[in-house]
Amino acid sequence: MTLPFSISGIIVKGDQLGRKLGYPTANLDLPDASKFHGLTGVYAATVTLEEVLYTGMANIGFRPTLIHPSFTVEVNIFDFDRDIYGTPITIHFLERIRDEMRFNSLDDLVKQMEQDEREIRKILSVLLKPDTNTQ
Ligand SMILES: Cc1cc2nc3c(=O)[nH]c(=O)nc-3n(C[C@H](O)[C@H](O)[C@H](O)COP(=O)(O)O)c2cc1C
Repeated sequence: MTLPFSISGIIVKGDQLGRKLGYPTANLDLPDASKFHGLTGVYAATVTLEEVLYTGMANIGFRPTLIHPSFTVEVNIFDFDRDIYGTPITIHFLERIRDEMRFNSLDDLVKQMEQDEREIRKILSVLLKPDTNTQ
């Protein structure tokens, strides 16, 4: 699959661990998730939710760091703190920044996610900058 691509689904409750880690995620309910197995990785993303576009960072993966790994398509929406279970969203995957990794501790995962956030905010600020050359 070439970038950018989009995946749509209804938001379901994850393990709620993301909230504790400081990065709550919207997890998609995907009846046939296996067709996305080849797309694993961490991405700069935008999200369409109730016809509004948000920015965020997405993970497609098996989450090998967790005690109970499970395959998920999920997104942490930047500057957003609402309960949106049951809502349909579309995640637009714009740029892939790294492979999913197995960390020795959740602390190490959080440190990496902090770095991901800095990197992805920078990428999105360039990608989404209004084009000043067209008049
Ligand atoms: C940007 C981003 C990067 C992630 N990178 C990894 C990773 O490299 N390895 C991993 O095991 N899990 C990774 N995760 C998944 C987190 O472990 C997961 O979001 C967290 O456990 C919360 O899951 P929950 O919503 O089911 O509670 C990442 C998640 C996001 C949003």
